[in-house]
Amino acid sequence: MSAVTVRNLEHHYQSKKNRDRPQVDNVSFDVNSGEMFVLLGPSGCGKTTILRCIAGLIRPSSGEIAIDGKTVAGPTKFVPTYRRDIGLVFQDYAVWPHMTVFENVAFPLRHGSAKKLRRNEIRDQVMASLEMVKLEKYATRDATALSGGQQQRVALARALVREPAVLLLDEPLSNLDAALREQMRHELRQIQQRIRITTLFVTHDQSEALSMATRIGLMRDGVLEEVTTPRDLYQAPKSQHAASAAGAAVFYEGTVEAVEDDGMQRSARVGTPVGRLQARTLGPVQVGQTVTVAVRPEDIEVHPAPPTDRPNVLAAKITSVLFLGPSVDVRLEVAGHTMRSTRPAKGWTQVEDDSAYVELPVDRVHILPA
Ligand SMILES: Nc1ncnc2c1ncn2[C@@H]1O[C@H](COP(=O)(O)OP(=O)(O)OP(=O)(O)O)[C@@H](O)[C@H]1O
Ligand SMILES: [Mg+2]
Repeated sequence: MSAVTVRNLEHHYQSKKNRDRPQVDNVSFDVNSGEMFVLLGPSGCGKTTILRCIAGLIRPSSGEIAIDGKTVAGPTKFVPTYRRDIGLVFQDYAVWPHMTVFENVAFPLRHGSAKKLRRNEIRDQVMASLEMVKLEKYATRDATALSGGQQQRVALARALVREPAVLLLDEPLSNLDAALREQMRHELRQIQQRIRITTLFVTHDQSEALSMATRIGLMRDGVLEEVTTPRDLYQAPKSQHAASAAGAAVFYEGTVEAVEDDGMQRSARVGTPVGRLQARTLGPVQVGQTVTVAVRPEDIEVHPAPPTDRPNVLAAKITSVLFLGPSVDVRLEVAGHTMRSTRPAKGWTQVEDDSAYVELPVDRVHILPA
């Protein structure tokens, strides 16, 4: 079931005299009930604008938005933020100073609720919300006398206290340092899974998107390009933009030389600047077609001697090796072109200027539209 429905959403910040492309261009998607839907895309692509439209902080130029089946924005309708069944958390966690943790979380109940709640009802709901983010012991603490991660948890408790139908999160972890950010990813995901709250999460961070999302909506220049799962975005990207949005990849342009179909799987042979590569194809390709071949660095194997009877083995020379702790980041030259491989550091012995053989396993070579 769809908890948030966005249809043909369009937003122009500028007035009509500035007829540039809209900042949000005909975007449609559904967030299913209970899922964590992540909007992923580079800075400026329109993620926050979409979130603000759903929150009612801006009125979209056109299109329709429904929350829990009720239209909140449309040609003749605009429901203000405080009457939308949502909880909001932004990047700047904005706990209110000079207020205790308890009062911060109680605020939406005292000031936003349609019906007036009794003192003990407020107390119970605030404490339940604080328990959810494991801050019940801090209820009487001044909210600014907390660490960044704790303050962000206060903001989360405040967003959840009214038990909204939908939680809207705009880069909620990006102000936290790296270690805390990773910890908060786990906590946020646990909370979301436990209470099964429908969540729309906006981020430009690929690992955040891959780790948190049930589904990812991939954005670019105001357009929602595709909706996919983290695994498919990573392992079976449909475009060069999708491949790079999910992580590092090397790309080579090539020409399809042959197509084989054994009834089960279709594969193609592609002539590329680094050599001839065999690849699986998902979509239809034709002989003579120009395509882009993409491979992830961790899928590129490096051997000191050439493995026999295996396809996609190319002679290479190691140009640099960086030790990263668990892995090594290896740069190689293959037929005058740069290739990049990430290998486990354990057991790695090769050094700069060594000759080597790279192997690109057939089912890890992706053929994308050029
Ligand atoms: N108030 C505004 N007035 C005019 N243009 C704006 C306004 N806010 C945003 N924009 C423009 O709209 C586009 C989309 O902005 P938006 O904030 O939605 O991007 P974003 O994807 O959230 O980026 P980021 O990852 O940097 O937060 C950008 O080109 C931005 O410059
Ligand atoms: Mg933004």
